[in-house]
Amino acid sequence: MMSFGILESFFWISVACSFFCFSTGFTPADQYLIDCGSPTNTTVGGRVFVADGFASKLLSTPQDILVNTSLKPITSSDDSLLYDSARIFTGPSKYTFSISQSGRHWIRLYFYPFASGNYSMSSANFSVSAQDYTLLSHFSPKNVSFREFSLNVTSETLEISFIPTNNSFAFLNAIEVVSVPNGLITDDANLVNPAVKFQGLLTQAMETVERVNMGGPRISPANDRLWRTWVPDNDFLVQANFAKNVTNIGAVKYPKGGATEDTAPPTVYGTCTEMNSQDNPTSIFNVTWEFDVDPGFQYFVRFHFCDIVSKSPNQLYFNVYINSWIAAPNLDLSTINVNILAVAYYMDIVTPVNDNGKLRVSIGPSTTVNAYPDAILNGLEIMKMNNSMGSLGGAVIASVPFSSNSKKNVGMIVGLSIACVVVVFLAVFLFLFCRRRKMARLGHSKTWVPFSIYGGTSLTMGSKYSNGTTLSAISNLGYRFPFAAVLEATNNFDESWVIGIGGFGRVFKGVLNDGTKVAVKRGNPQSQQGIAEFQTEIEMLSQFRHRHLVSLIGYCDEKNEMILIYEYMENGTLKSHLYGSDRPSLSWKDRLEICIGAARGLHYLHTGYSKAVIHRDVKSANILLDENLLAKVADFGLSKTGPEIDQTHVSTAVKGSFGYLDPEYFRRQQLTEKSDVYSFGVVLFEVLCARPVIDPTLPREMVNLAEWAMKWQKNGQLEQIIDPNLVGKIKPDSLRKFGETAEKCLAEFGVDRPSMGDVLWNLEYCLQLQEAVVQNDPEENSTNAILELSSQVNNLNNVDTTISANQFEASNADDLSGVSMSRVFSQLVKSEGR
Ligand SMILES: *[C@@H]1O[C@H](CO)[C@@H](O)[C@H](O)[C@H]1NC(C)=O
Ligand SMILES: *[C@@H]1O[C@H](CO)[C@@H](O)[C@H](O)[C@H]1NC(C)=O
Ligand SMILES: *[C@@H]1O[C@H](CO)[C@@H](O)[C@H](O)[C@H]1NC(C)=O
Ligand SMILES: *[C@@H]1O[C@H](CO)[C@@H](O)[C@H](O)[C@H]1NC(C)=O
Ligand SMILES: *[C@@H]1O[C@H](CO)[C@@H](O)[C@H](O)[C@H]1NC(C)=O
Ligand SMILES: *[C@@H]1O[C@H](CO)[C@@H](O)[C@H](O)[C@H]1NC(C)=O
Ligand SMILES: *[C@@H]1O[C@H](CO)[C@@H](O)[C@H](O)[C@H]1NC(C)=O
Ligand SMILES: *[C@@H]1O[C@H](CO)[C@@H](O)[C@H](O)[C@H]1NC(C)=O
Ligand SMILES: *[C@@H]1O[C@H](CO)[C@@H](O)[C@H](O)[C@H]1NC(C)=O
Ligand SMILES: *[C@@H]1O[C@H](CO)[C@@H](O)[C@H](O)[C@H]1NC(C)=O
Repeated sequence: MMSFGILESFFWISVACSFFCFSTGFTPADQYLIDCGSPTNTTVGGRVFVADGFASKLLSTPQDILVNTSLKPITSSDDSLLYDSARIFTGPSKYTFSISQSGRHWIRLYFYPFASGNYSMSSANFSVSAQDYTLLSHFSPKNVSFREFSLNVTSETLEISFIPTNNSFAFLNAIEVVSVPNGLITDDANLVNPAVKFQGLLTQAMETVERVNMGGPRISPANDRLWRTWVPDNDFLVQANFAKNVTNIGAVKYPKGGATEDTAPPTVYGTCTEMNSQDNPTSIFNVTWEFDVDPGFQYFVRFHFCDIVSKSPNQLYFNVYINSWIAAPNLDLSTINVNILAVAYYMDIVTPVNDNGKLRVSIGPSTTVNAYPDAILNGLEIMKMNNSMGSLGGAVIASVPFSSNSKKNVGMIVGLSIACVVVVFLAVFLFLFCRRRKMARLGHSKTWVPFSIYGGTSLTMGSKYSNGTTLSAISNLGYRFPFAAVLEATNNFDESWVIGIGGFGRVFKGVLNDGTKVAVKRGNPQSQQGIAEFQTEIEMLSQFRHRHLVSLIGYCDEKNEMILIYEYMENGTLKSHLYGSDRPSLSWKDRLEICIGAARGLHYLHTGYSKAVIHRDVKSANILLDENLLAKVADFGLSKTGPEIDQTHVSTAVKGSFGYLDPEYFRRQQLTEKSDVYSFGVVLFEVLCARPVIDPTLPREMVNLAEWAMKWQKNGQLEQIIDPNLVGKIKPDSLRKFGETAEKCLAEFGVDRPSMGDVLWNLEYCLQLQEAVVQNDPEENSTNAILELSSQVNNLNNVDTTISANQFEASNADDLSGVSMSRVFSQLVKSEGR
């Protein structure tokens, strides 16, 4: 009976809940609605904005100044009641909202600068910040202004500060802080250029630029479950006669696990703007909308589609563009939704940094699929994303560092003014400081903060990725150096400053005019392949910032030049420390640490991004060492984005350096991360044995290091062939583990090889095994004896290695005739020249 009662009440609670949820949709966990300056509560669209007095405990401000206007209504819009009163902030002030459920929250601000008594609000000038984000910077509203922001609040309180500029003041007519349903904005979207996944939206602050209901009327907050406003699209259409309205709200269906009524209401999905082909089956044109945006930011663009125009599936194929980039080619909405029409669907795209103040969205018929020319768009949302300095406005404004609640306290006001001056000063100082530091060591920041280093006073905000189908597109990045600056830095490409020669071209040492040492790689402009590698390298290096990846400082593509400017690596290549130069021999511990560093860099490439990136040219000449022998992986010219989730390999022409090349990749022309693992295994043996990976001067069975070392490893006698400089210095356990690790890397089949993460772990273990010796008693170590005994055998290994790698690489493949594997590779050498 008792249990029945409980069950029954559960039943009724859940019925009540489902009814409730059904009838009103989302119930925000946090909802603060304040009508600032108003003596009474104001109801707008069914929601109550409380009188200012009820919010005073949330606010800390130097003076209580409330103003109103007798001119009602101010606007014709449904929220005009919110605009007839305001609160004035004469000094830095802040609202502190307690947040009951972390996650994304909307911050909606209402401004209308009416004139009132002593305050002419149109002369107000102020900044608004929330958490670490600058929402508005030196803002001075001249007319009705509604601004909507959203940010993920993970702390227990949300502070929103109003900071008057210099001698001005701030004001506010109304404010909303409201929870956004989880999952409305997910962490990833597609980047439109390059077309890869973008991740990190969850932590991004955003400002709504435009929310448009295509082909339909304005939708007021009261008619949207999340109290959003949707405006009609007419004002944005570039050519109105190219478009026509279609309405069929009753047809809209929401799929399972896709768009919901929270994503957009049926009134948005049920109307669309359709290409007005006027029954001409040969018409080909785009319907284009143009939006004003602030330059220097990335934009999150959400397209809402619902095919309310087709009579049957697979009729409608169209292209969707943002600016000149294709966002979706040959979109067929009916296949997305398994042949059901009129199903709500949305698509999220992130643009690169926009630099021209206009964002164009176009739809047009597919030119490759033979179908009746048609295209639709039902809704569109454009949101500005915070830049790398956390700003959605202009200059970054520091938050207000005050805590006291006491008001009308003159001392406090004075104190605040001083604090404010100090804050501004500090902010300016910090900004300049960071800027200087970044200029000096741009390569070491985790995200790009690109700016035009020479010339141009404006600060161009950067992106986390680069784009790169054309050289001019790359220039958006803003790390572009004028050719004159490159000439100056390299002393006009002084021959005596050449520090290396690679497949791509020559590498010069250089010094920027701020004293930063750089390495300048100058590509051979004749090489068509070079252009592709040039672009790949810029793309890769601007996407990946890691301690163990060499950093790109800039590039120059003036006058058909292909110049890449990197951080200078004092100690050159790992290869040069192993053989073929007179550099002092590295200790085993140094070698292990270098291998670990390089493994970390590769591990990051393979896993640090949504799609694995395969380096494709892992070799000791591409592992560079800085002044502290810290290893960094370089030369991304051949890198390829790796398999998507549903594929297991990338099929591609075989490229790479022989001696390091994965035989499986060679046989099957299929590239996976495991090809890098193979090459890295060869590097491990190279580090241990300190000899070239291919050395045609040696007896036949010794020419190929991988084959030769594997033979000794399999016989359990690896110590016989190690670098004579290491004899007696490696603890047997460390050597055994190292040999096993390298052996696994060289497994015949990729599936049998460890991941780069495993390799990393094993190498760290090798280092521990080695260190353990040092900590215990190094003298008591029996390896010494063993290794010394074997030193005779080592003489085998002590061959002349005067042929330097570069010479060897540049040499004709015919030199290899008769050498194991040479025939296989000669083709490669000829075609690649590397
Ligand atoms: C205004 O709203 C507050 C907070 O919800 C409430 O406590 C108060 O009773 C309301 N006042 C009137 C006049 O409705
Ligand atoms: C507007 O403000 C004046 C004082 O500035 C006050 O006397 C008046 O009652 C206010 N009117 C309303 C509607 O709040
Ligand atoms: C907020 O950010 C945190 C990480 O900082 C993330 O785990 C969480 O899912 C985000 N929440 C929402 C609703 O975006
Ligand atoms: C305007 O300022 C004067 C002096 O500063 C003050 O006496 C007066 O009350 C103010 N009027 C209003 C409407 O705030
Ligand atoms: C606001 O103040 C800033 C800083 O003094 C100034 O640069 C900006 O022009 C001002 N804005 C307006 C609209 O006066
Ligand atoms: C202010 O905005 C309203 C509508 O939002 C518009 O009708 C009016 O013309 C604008 N005033 C000015 C001076 O731009
Ligand atoms: C602040 O105001 C003072 C005096 O009005 C002026 O000299 C100074 O240039 C202003 N500073 C800024 C940043 O606008
Ligand atoms: C489309 O609908 C909008 C809003 O209902 C209307 O203003 C516009 O005139 C319509 N356009 C056409 C071409 O009918
Ligand atoms: C549609 O717009 C895209 C992007 O701007 C452009 O590449 C394409 O040529 C346009 N198509 C037509 C038919 O104008
Ligand atoms: C947005 O701001 C956060 C924190 O301020 C920062 O980590 C992130 O990099 C910014 N986003 C971009 C695209 O720079």
